[in-house]
Amino acid sequence: MSPDLQNSFRPFQHSGAGSALHCDGVSLETLAKQYGTPLYVYSATQILERLGMFQQAFAGRDHLVCYAVKANSSLAILKLQADRGAGFDIVSGGELERVMKAAPQAVGRVVFSGVGKTAAEIDRALEAGILEFNVESEAELELLAMRARKLKVKARFALRVNPDVFAETHPYISTGLREHKFGIDIRKAVEIYRAAARNKWLEPYGISVHIGSQIRSADPFGAAMERVCKLAMQLKREGIRLKVVDAGGGLGIDYHERADAKAVSPAAKVQEYAAAIEKALEGFDCKLLIEPGRFIVAQAGALVTRVLNVKKNGKKTFVITDAAMNDLIRPALYQAYHEIVPVRPRSGRARAVDVVGPVCETGDFFARDRMLKPVEAGDLVALLDAGAYGMAQSSNYNSRFRPAEVLVEGKQQRLIRRREEIKDLLATEIA
Ligand code: LLP
Repeated sequence: MSPDLQNSFRPFQHSGAGSALHCDGVSLETLAKQYGTPLYVYSATQILERLGMFQQAFAGRDHLVCYAVKANSSLAILKLQADRGAGFDIVSGGELERVMKAAPQAVGRVVFSGVGKTAAEIDRALEAGILEFNVESEAELELLAMRARKLKVKARFALRVNPDVFAETHPYISTGLREHKFGIDIRKAVEIYRAAARNKWLEPYGISVHIGSQIRSADPFGAAMERVCKLAMQLKREGIRLKVVDAGGGLGIDYHERADAKAVSPAAKVQEYAAAIEKALEGFDCKLLIEPGRFIVAQAGALVTRVLNVKKNGKKTFVITDAAMNDLIRPALYQAYHEIVPVRPRSGRARAVDVVGPVCETGDFFARDRMLKPVEAGDLVALLDAGAYGMAQSSNYNSRFRPAEVLVEGKQQRLIRRREEIKDLLATEIA
């Protein structure tokens, strides 16, 4: 293991040879017994540590870390971060309600992103007094002005520009190219700001960019920021002084970290990211917003699942777990890799297995041909790095109940969402 890895905080560890996998001070066996499986388990310590890394990296300038709610929108996780000064990046009226419920005092630290906002969502956000709307089209800006006029409040907005920067990531989560549906062509932005500056219901407040998710290199963030700054300077020369630059989210994590001896520590990653952004912003006096999601919560969470049985079909061995694609869809949707660790490892040689769920789809798998130490029916395994876009993307497919969630705070733990029951599934239906 590289020396910088030893310094990084790692919540899911075996506390000694032959011991069960723990989340901080709490055994996953204990949690599974108490709350059942499948079960999402999160480390509060790690979430706060990651949030703190961003806050420290930008301490030299006025800034606000707006956690991207979509990554994990559980109320307790929002409250935890709000209490440490985080703001929030939201993309729907539902996410706004979540923030208002978990941390009403933080509503002035909310930015509202997304390519399609309804009039009702805009009204609610205007009345709540959010910080800024990140606007993605001229039509949306017109709608925002109309709603602001109706409610007699001035709407602070940023244009989300499309910088036409390529960032290497999965095609489904890349957003910064002209061919994508996101943002406004950066070449058209000046004109739109000029027109908006004449509208008394609109306040040109900032400029924003988001080039994609799970981006591992700092360079594209710097390149996008440079283009954004150039535009902000041009606007300043014309008398349109923006107060805020929003660099979006997207910093990636190392899903293979444990196997990679050359992995860079999370703290070093954040510093490299901050340096790229600061370099682009040099000499430009503004408040900086960032919208990280995955980097804060992904590695803080694991999905704990019980092996239902181990089945052989021809040459293949299938480990069938009680968690399925409805609980964690990332492998099925993006061919994403999640490390799988037996909670109490058995002795014996690792062998290649497919780890799959009970859903009736061939796409319902967590890993294919994965080398895994022997497991038997009844054993627990943990899918690591599942804190981001895990529970948030879960569904009731196959009429399965969504899992419970537990937050570990040092040696304490608490249930932050109970497991669903049949009454929850049927609550909205009319026979
Ligand atoms: N800001 C905006 C405007 C976004 O669209 C996103 C993510 C973020 C911030 C946060 O990005 P992050 O820091 O988490 O990379 N479900 C996919 C990821 C979709 C990301 C969508 N937008 C996955 O599981 O990999």
